[in-house]
Amino acid sequence: MRVFPALCLFFALAAPMSALADSLRDHALSLFEPLPERIATLDGRTVTEAEVALGQMLFFDPRLADDGATACTACHDPATGGDGNRPMSMGHAWQGGPQNAPTIFNATLNGARFWQGWDEDLAQAGTRDPYRAERIATPDRMVAVLASMPGYVAAFEAAFPGETNPIRPETASRALAAFASTLLTPAPFDDWLRGEGALPDEARKGLALFIDRGCAGCHQGVNLGGDSYHPLRVARVPGTEALPESGVCFALEEADGAEYLYRAGSLRNITRTSPYFSEGSVRSLPLAVQIMGRSQLGTDLTEAEADLITAFLATLQGRVPPITLPVLPDETALTPAPN
Ligand code: HEC
Ligand code: HEC
Repeated sequence: MRVFPALCLFFALAAPMSALADSLRDHALSLFEPLPERIATLDGRTVTEAEVALGQMLFFDPRLADDGATACTACHDPATGGDGNRPMSMGHAWQGGPQNAPTIFNATLNGARFWQGWDEDLAQAGTRDPYRAERIATPDRMVAVLASMPGYVAAFEAAFPGETNPIRPETASRALAAFASTLLTPAPFDDWLRGEGALPDEARKGLALFIDRGCAGCHQGVNLGGDSYHPLRVARVPGTEALPESGVCFALEEADGAEYLYRAGSLRNITRTSPYFSEGSVRSLPLAVQIMGRSQLGTDLTEAEADLITAFLATLQGRVPPITLPVLPDETALTPAPN
């Protein structure tokens, strides 16, 4: 591309002075990206309003689940960070699940889905579909539930016009994914990346530490993580005072020497999504930061440094989009009873 010096000078003068002088911001822009305002396509298909509206109904509807009580919101509650607040999420019939439910906010932008896996799982982990309602429902029963309610029949027809058999588990997944794609939470950090606001001084210092100490090596890109899997204890096992209570994820690798890998999760809204780590074993964010320093970087961060990094992480707490509680279609005599 040819550059016209006079034109460049014009744009340079037109840009706000703070943006011009901010080398930290330039550095940050080479590692991170601001959240997009919206996601227009998924898997090459345009996301339509009708799909989003249907997905929102499904997301809030506990009747899809075999027990008639477990909506997606049971473990991904948009009112409280979009995640599960329990260390291990509660499943069907109130059984404890094996893992902490990650937040649904911005999850569409995670390249790597799910917390962990053995090497051979990971090839599929990026493509495994987390929007399948089979997670909470038997597909045949779910289809019978949906087809029994005229309100759902109309909503599926509107979302998937021209399809002869619109009520299917795959279309339900597509609608759920469409709704989830609207759950983006732009944060003060995004404003700053775009040159539209300042960061508090402590947060700037924390960001500089986050970059210099190497956190951004694994927590980078648009979601500051969510894209890659790593062994824990890359550098060394954290000291007992900083070991997560259960210690399981750190012990697992030791057990058989196999490469047990965990996803370096997105750090967006991390101030809202305690407890931390795949087992939800740590409730304090500065402590989680110190554990990361020790186990992944071999660095002993002081409490003051961990607090500065935490001040930076607080700027990733985003604005939650307004979500109207949907009024769901009425059941009919044909609606199967919960199991
Ligand atoms: C019983 C609790 C529970 C329910 C109900 C539930 N989920 Fe999840 N969800 C989880 C857990 C736990 C994980 C992490 C699983 C893993 O990593 O293996 C997860 C992961 C996800 C992810 C991946 C997030 C990421 O960070 O990449 C998405 C998306 C998701 N669920 C959507 C849904 C939708 C849509 C529904 C409703 C159809 C639903 N979930 C119902 C517990 C639940
Ligand atoms: C070598 C890669 C790597 C580096 C470097 C790294 N992390 Fe992590 N981070 C991970 C992995 C993997 C996990 C998930 C651990 C788990 O699931 O138990 C994680 C999880 C976290 C969590 C908890 C996320 C959640 O949702 O519970 C926080 C907070 C965090 N990292 C912050 C940091 C900070 C701050 C630094 C720098 C001091 C850092 N990380 C450096 C790989 C890394």
